Amino acid sequence: MKKIALAVTGACMVSGAFAAAPDWSKVTERKFKLFYPGQSAYEWVMNKADHSAVPDIVDKKRPCAKCHEGDANDVGNAIVAGKPVGQSKSVLEPKPPAGKGGWVQASFKAAHDGDKLYVRVEWESPAAGGDKTDKKNEAKLTMLFDGGGTVAGADLNGCWATCHTDLRTMKDGKDPKKTKYIKDADLAGGKFYDLIQFRSGKGEKPVDGYVADKRVMEGGKGLVKAEGKKEGNKWVVTFERSLAGGGKGDHAIAAGKTYNFGFAIHENFSEARYHYVSLGYQFGLDKAVEGVKNYYNVSKQ
Ligand code: HEC
Repeated sequence: MKKIALAVTGACMVSGAFAAAPDWSKVTERKFKLFYPGQSAYEWVMNKADHSAVPDIVDKKRPCAKCHEGDANDVGNAIVAGKPVGQSKSVLEPKPPAGKGGWVQASFKAAHDGDKLYVRVEWESPAAGGDKTDKKNEAKLTMLFDGGGTVAGADLNGCWATCHTDLRTMKDGKDPKKTKYIKDADLAGGKFYDLIQFRSGKGEKPVDGYVADKRVMEGGKGLVKAEGKKEGNKWVVTFERSLAGGGKGDHAIAAGKTYNFGFAIHENFSEARYHYVSLGYQFGLDKAVEGVKNYYNVSKQ
């Protein structure tokens, strides 16, 4: 009898105190492309004269991924090379970074255990090029997510809701300190993007912040871990995020909702807008959604 009781206690301790990352080999993989967006701000992608797809986005509610999952590599290659794109034949990168690859192929997996969300992103570094302005971090992975439809339009335009033409290093940027923001943001009302970031530099800390009327790189309490390593040319980065959140700029992640999210990858010691971005995606916990290609069901492990 005693022996059995001990064994049971031991098992509980293992699952409680040492709750670990899921067995990733059992988690569904979703491949997606990230591309170099140049100065394709929200104001550009949502302006019909620049981008003929605007009526399809606005009236037919087509998300970016619906049209660009296939050609995001071509889009990135054209923009990074300074080629004219869109209906208006705009050059979205006035200073093409020599040699820099136009896109990144990534593999995404996510799971939860009722307590935490686990995210794993794997990618091959593209051809290196451009200024190395972030001396500390060879790579950064940033994830933005809303509070389950709390950012209007995020289901259609993903992270473009935060990217504007008046930001620093953008076309109409006048203020060198102006970073990402959401129009009519409301931190108390949930109209903001939660932001978590892995930074590869030695001794660099993970960032748990948010994007509201400005980007804030602190305040969150939900990010438990952000770890990554490079093997050969391949990065593998994992996030562990409590579902509850609980800090400033933290969204609670709960069953029943559909969350809008996207990623940015900074490669080769780059910073600010010189990154690769994903199109907008959606996730929910243990909730299958049929027929929505850019939706990912995060299952309990
Ligand atoms: C209904 C399909 C459709 C949707 C949805 C769509 N696009 Fe496009 N996009 C196009 C087409 C077609 C072009 C080619 C040029 C044009 O007609 O504007 C284009 C061009 C672009 C370009 C310039 C690159 C190039 O090769 O011309 C960018 C950047 C872009 N789209 C980003 C986005 C983003 C971001 C979203 C989501 C907010 C989005 N698109 C949604 C169809 C779409």
